[in-house]
Amino acid sequence: MNIKKILIDKIKKNGSLNVAEFIEICQFKNDGYYLKNNPIGRDNDFITSPEISQMFGEVLTIFLINFWEKKIKNNFNLVELGPGKGTLLNDILRTSSIKQNFLNSMHLTLIEKNKSLIDIQKKNMNHKNITWCEEFYISNKNIPSIIYSNEFFDCFPVQQFHKKEKWYEKYVNYNEVEQNFTLVSQQVEDKKILTSLEKFEHVKVAEIARSRDEYFELVCAFIKKHKGVFITIDYGYKNPPNHFSLQTIYQHKKTHLFENIGNQDITAHVNFDELIFIANKYNLKVEIFCSQKDFLISCGIQERKKNLQKDKSEEVIKKINAEYDRLVDNSQMGEIFKVLVISCF
Ligand SMILES: C[S@@+](CC[C@H](N)C(=O)[O-])C[C@H]1O[C@@H](n2cnc3c(N)ncnc32)[C@H](O)[C@@H]1O
Repeated sequence: MNIKKILIDKIKKNGSLNVAEFIEICQFKNDGYYLKNNPIGRDNDFITSPEISQMFGEVLTIFLINFWEKKIKNNFNLVELGPGKGTLLNDILRTSSIKQNFLNSMHLTLIEKNKSLIDIQKKNMNHKNITWCEEFYISNKNIPSIIYSNEFFDCFPVQQFHKKEKWYEKYVNYNEVEQNFTLVSQQVEDKKILTSLEKFEHVKVAEIARSRDEYFELVCAFIKKHKGVFITIDYGYKNPPNHFSLQTIYQHKKTHLFENIGNQDITAHVNFDELIFIANKYNLKVEIFCSQKDFLISCGIQERKKNLQKDKSEEVIKKINAEYDRLVDNSQMGEIFKVLVISCF
């Protein structure tokens, strides 16, 4: 059934939907945006760090190998959440050939919901032994896991709140006469939500992503019980900003939430403070929390750039500089993207 029709029927049946329920249907129901097509690439809706430059995956591999050497040095699961076109994993596998022991010790699992992307991943990946799962599941529990994700948690739906004297939540209604969706606000009465909103006392707006927090909690519980480390990279904040971060993108252009229903990317910045809070609840060690710029530089991206540029034409040097800037510059992805590494070790 058409996504717009599902939304209208649901609103007619249940009354209004909160923003998270609306997004969940647009992205993940039937042939919702994230289940049907490939959104990634210059010809599609958006582009991600591994698609911008091979340097991203290469220096991440250096971090993974160092961590493995120090803390694991044996068989392990390498698990990617939301691998997109598989570019990051391909870069990791290619770079891992500098450390054969690491490469030979890994058991690969990819967690992916999108059928078109799974097909692309299978086509792009010539590594034979890969397990695909739609939900977070790792079958081999007797060995530690290195789990990682890039631009995964920003896909989860958020509820939106704003404060006057009291907190209000935004809901989506459908206007039968004008045949369009509208936003309305309702005062928050739910005690559990009001408690969560206490963390936003210094700002006037808040976004809460319950399904994202629950997913992150699953990963924490897994690495606590079965040993492991989780590296997650995404755009986000530690101190809540005083503005909404929900963003909709269609063919690289910003749009409105009610445009291109079921056909556009909908994301929100990740609340890393909440993720760190959950990691602490599981007594996991926060190994790193920093900007993408600091992380990539500490893993050697400047040296890698120089190496790649050696003996290259002016044009190639310029291209590599532009890709580097895109990943590292504070005004581009360097500051807004954060890296969180948590582990049980
Ligand atoms: C923004 S893309 C990033 C892709 C890739 N990591 C990259 O950096 O190019 C998000 C990826 O996560 C997948 N995804 C989103 N939500 C998911 C979920 N709840 N479970 C599994 N995969 C999900 C998408 O299908 C897609 O592969």
